[in-house]
Parts: sequence; structure tokens; C-alpha cells
Amino acid sequence: MTDIAITINGTAWEGTVEPRLSLADLIRGELTLTGTHLGCEHGVCGACNVEVDGVPMRSCLMPAAAADGCAITTIEGQYGEMAERLRAAFTTHHALQCGFCTSGMMATALDILRRGLGRDEATIRRELAGNICRCTGYQGIVAAILHVAQETTP
Ligand code: FES
Ligand code: FES
Repeated sequence: MTDIAITINGTAWEGTVEPRLSLADLIRGELTLTGTHLGCEHGVCGACNVEVDGVPMRSCLMPAAAADGCAITTIEGQYGEMAERLRAAFTTHHALQCGFCTSGMMATALDILRRGLGRDEATIRRELAGNICRCTGYQGIVAAILHVAQETTP
């Protein structure tokens, strides 16, 4: 067992975790933040993406013990202008149907926008390659990211 201390959505949390516990299971189980979804559970689909120290991370692959000292943001903690704009754009552009991929998509999409890569469709599609959506055909997701990039870039 390992003692860890993390910040989750701005709140400090300390606890003891088993070596094989994934960050995803800590988030969904112990912390009951079920907006983070589990699809494949082996690093393929991106549904479990959360921000770890500001970088999107597969929470199904990351041991909870490895998150010691990190600041983690899940869909429940995504605040700020960019996140609000992106949420609105997802609605406007019908960027989700079942919503299973959406929290992981949001983590990746915010990262794309923060790195200034949201202004052309080909780049967005390449950056989204690690996030699988079985419903939308991706067009609405790409349009939402383009929309926010155009709104926020002079
Ligand atoms: S559940 Fe983590 S990548 Fe699919
Ligand atoms: S909206 Fe259903 S998987 Fe993306």
C-alpha cells in the first residue's frame, strides 16, 4: 500500500492506495467522480482521459500511486472561460450523442486549444486520433473545437 497526496479539481485529497489501483478507479470509486468514463481499459479509446498537471492522461493506464503530488482535473472540475466556451460549442455543434467519449474528448480538446492547435481541421483530427467516438462521426467535435479556436484567437 502507498500513501499519496493529490489535488483533485482544486481540493486536496490524501489516502492509501493499492499498487495496482488505476487512477481511473481511484477517481470513479474512492472519489465518486463518475464523469470520467472507462471504455477499453487498456489505453486505446481515450474515454478515461483526465488532466494531470495540465496534460491529458489515460487514467486507466496510470497507477494512482504515480499521481502522488499531482494536480488532477476531471470533467467535474473543468471551469474557466475556455472550458465554458467548449461546453457551449459542443452543444451548438451537436458534438455528442451518448456522451460516453465526451469527458475524455473535453480533456483532449482543451489541450488542443491551449496549445493553439485548434485553427485547422486536419490538425484537430490528428490531435484527436487518440480519442474514439462511436456515435458522432467526429464532425461536430471538430467543428466545436474550430469554433472555440476562432472565437478566442485574435
Ligand atoms: S478506458 Fe482508458 S484508454 Fe480506454
Ligand atoms: S458521443 Fe457516443 S461515443 Fe462519442
